[in-house]
Amino acid sequence: MPLISPSLLSADFGNLQRDIEMLNDSQCDWLHVDVMDGLFVPNISFGQPIVKHIKKHSRKPLDVHLMIMDPSRYIADFRNVGADILTVHYEACTHLDRTLQAIKDAGMKCGVALNPHSPVMLLEDSIQLCDMVLLMSVNPGFGGQKFIDNTYDKIRTLRQLCNRKNPDCLIEVDGGVNTVNAAMLCNVGADVLVAGNAVFKSDNPLQTIIDLKQ
Ligand code: DX5
Ligand code: ZN
Repeated sequence: MPLISPSLLSADFGNLQRDIEMLNDSQCDWLHVDVMDGLFVPNISFGQPIVKHIKKHSRKPLDVHLMIMDPSRYIADFRNVGADILTVHYEACTHLDRTLQAIKDAGMKCGVALNPHSPVMLLEDSIQLCDMVLLMSVNPGFGGQKFIDNTYDKIRTLRQLCNRKNPDCLIEVDGGVNTVNAAMLCNVGADVLVAGNAVFKSDNPLQTIIDLKQ
């Protein structure tokens, strides 16, 4: 069964505590926390102070997805506000190897995210350092976008790369994931499913999380 990481980007920001408590009581595994800087992506979401409060209420690990330029500047900050897994974008790092090492040295699991236009083989020489690879299945910046079908092929290619060089590395898929495509994503090799709109716009989020898992 896949791990489910609901994205708080689609939660009610006026009632974050309520939504986090709902997730605490759900079968989800992690909370996905999208940090955007208005530069790497066109949107601005929230920063460290909000993540600190999310941590205060959450009983699940925080899966923090940094959509910011030069994320190495903020590794200690996000460790201090409670990130358990810290994912940075390949496209936003000049020295990815050094950044991943710094995340591990700070005591977190490290992830690398690839935009839809970035081929999996860019990770040929850094996959050994990754605890997780996040494949963007939409162009990052907004929730509620349509899933890009080419992602299935990218998951298959990444699975092969992981099998060859780092079998413990998790594959996370982020963007447009729903109860219709979840099974196929797992069949081709996804380990972790992020879902924002599918969970928070559902009439029954708890059941939707179960459906995604199954
Ligand atoms: C998009 C974010 C996603 C987003 C997914 O840039 O990285 O985590 O919240 O939302 P849905 O599941 O609605 O596509
Ligand atoms: Zn995300």
